[in-house]
Amino acid sequence: MGAQLTKNDKRTCYVAELSAKDVGKHVCLMGWVQRQRDLGGLIFVDLRDRSGIIQLAFDDNTDRGIFDTAFTLRSEYSICAKGIVRHRGEGAVNKNIPTGEIEIAVDELKVFSTAQTPPFEIVENSDVKPELRLKHRYLDLRRPDLTRNIIARSQIVKIARDYYAENNFIDIETPCLIKPTPEGARDYLVPSRVHQGKFYALPQSPQLYKQLLMLSGFDRYFQIARCFRDEDLRADRQPEFTQIDLEMSYVTEDDVMELNEKFLVRLFKEFKGIELPTPFTRMTWHEAMNRFGSDKPDLRFGFELQDISDVLKDCGFKVFAGAIENGGSVRAINIKGAADKFSRKDIDALTNFVKSYKAKGLAWYKNVNGEVSSSYAKFLTDDENAAVVAKLCIEAGDIVFIVADKNKVVFDSLGALRCEIAKRLGLINPNEYKMLWVTEFPLLEYDEEDGRFYAMHHPFTMPMEEDLQYIESDPGKIRAKAYDIVINGTEAGGGSVRIHDAEIQSKMFDLLGMTHEEANEKFGFLLEAFQYGVPPHAGMAYGLDRLVMLILGLDDIRDVIAFPKVQNASELMSRCPSIPDEKALAELGIAVVSEEESDAE
Ligand code: AMO
Ligand code: AMP
Repeated sequence: MGAQLTKNDKRTCYVAELSAKDVGKHVCLMGWVQRQRDLGGLIFVDLRDRSGIIQLAFDDNTDRGIFDTAFTLRSEYSICAKGIVRHRGEGAVNKNIPTGEIEIAVDELKVFSTAQTPPFEIVENSDVKPELRLKHRYLDLRRPDLTRNIIARSQIVKIARDYYAENNFIDIETPCLIKPTPEGARDYLVPSRVHQGKFYALPQSPQLYKQLLMLSGFDRYFQIARCFRDEDLRADRQPEFTQIDLEMSYVTEDDVMELNEKFLVRLFKEFKGIELPTPFTRMTWHEAMNRFGSDKPDLRFGFELQDISDVLKDCGFKVFAGAIENGGSVRAINIKGAADKFSRKDIDALTNFVKSYKAKGLAWYKNVNGEVSSSYAKFLTDDENAAVVAKLCIEAGDIVFIVADKNKVVFDSLGALRCEIAKRLGLINPNEYKMLWVTEFPLLEYDEEDGRFYAMHHPFTMPMEEDLQYIESDPGKIRAKAYDIVINGTEAGGGSVRIHDAEIQSKMFDLLGMTHEEANEKFGFLLEAFQYGVPPHAGMAYGLDRLVMLILGLDDIRDVIAFPKVQNASELMSRCPSIPDEKALAELGIAVVSEEESDAE
């Protein structure tokens, strides 16, 4: 049986708090065996806790019983060690760890529990397969890099709580079992036992409740809120994730942006020691798309898109002229001075890259020391080629990439290509942070397939007053009082001014093709509430997981979540989702008809 913890076993500190200045102190440490080295008359054990590693020493002077116990220690045993802090012997100093100058001469040792050989070694930067790590996530979390990420996340939340509390925000919890009212993504549904055949939804965000809290008079609301969206996962997306969510009454979009800039400035100052310049850059959605082909551009490098449609609209090359004729465009990026860095093989790889964004091809032109080669020049007249060269300011050493297509395809492919090329050329500095507000988003997005408009942000976003005139004539043209905070090309958060006018709200539902009855069925409680005096209000939400990921310079959201899900939305450790037992289903009045492959990977 493992040893018991008694009232005398009180930890004095975490191991990494100890240094040479503690020599002579008697300490009590708790943790896991990192490894045990038996050198005959001498045993060294590395003891690990959440703060780091320290060396325990057992030698001639150690009590025999303790020495014998030390002999049995194996990796990941859970232990308590007490002893005196002392300098390591001459030549034994380990400069690689902060506690490398000292060790503990152990005079008491307890083994709380032994451990099987772990499926992977508990070390920093493990290259073990993610599936294996996630299956044993509790062990994965013992690894120092993951431990640090999770602790950093907690510190970031603390800074957020402090900041918003100091600015008069009230922390209010909103429900997790709510009325299904799809906002954008698919809802997770929860069956009701009491009301058979009826379902709750898990919130995609606290949006409606936080707006109601403004109506209730709380004025400034804040919550670290769990959100659930049944959408396809990516490296920066999880089916359940966390928002730093806030809403304010009597403010304009400028007020929200200014207050949140100050939060980010404080966060980066306190957490990273970085002084972010203010005010942050602002750019309209239209400008962001035209210059960078993206509504979340990474501003750490250039390679801006240039529209060359006007010089090519009458050219004889079908690929270019045809795209323009069909209402699309021809756009290019000029990678200055890098022509010699792109071989034919590289260009082929980039062509495949843009094809994944639905581009039909990638035209190119390069000038290596005055020697020109191109995939399209032969299809244009000399004048047309000269016009392109002039328009794009192509000089010796430059390489240009061109996509011709519908605007959406051109933007998507070139927007992604500029980032891919910056990555390939090693131009992305992970320690640089470029903050950007993208503003004036379109209010609506037209879906060709469904033949209808959808709200780009959500149906409660206020249109810009000067665009209200287009509500009947040209709704696609209406811009919204919406804003996103973009950090290094990632959408870290977003929000908007909300509609507080019943008439505009009902016009919005009209635009979204919702009848009066449908709007009432879905949002009746909100519409009713809005008859009782609505303050003007606005707000936003950060994706906390993304924010932590960005600040820590990571590119996988799973590295900042203690127990994340994998691509197919399953959790490998507990193996959910799973089939509930018959009785539970019967009580819910639910029968599963189709045979689902439910086993987690
Ligand atoms: P939005 O839908 O833009 O706005 O979400 C806000 C932020 O949440 C993060 N985010 C995600 N993070 C991880 N996994 C996901 N699946 C995921 N989806 C979104 C993003 C995003 O910017 N109620 C509004 C906010 C408001 O208007 O106040 C909302 O939810 O970083
Ligand atoms: P082709 O006429 O198919 O030989 O194409 C000539 C060049 O134009 C090749 O480099 C193609 O990759 C490129 N290309 C084809 N379609 C497009 C397009 N939609 N946009 C840009 N370049 C294209």
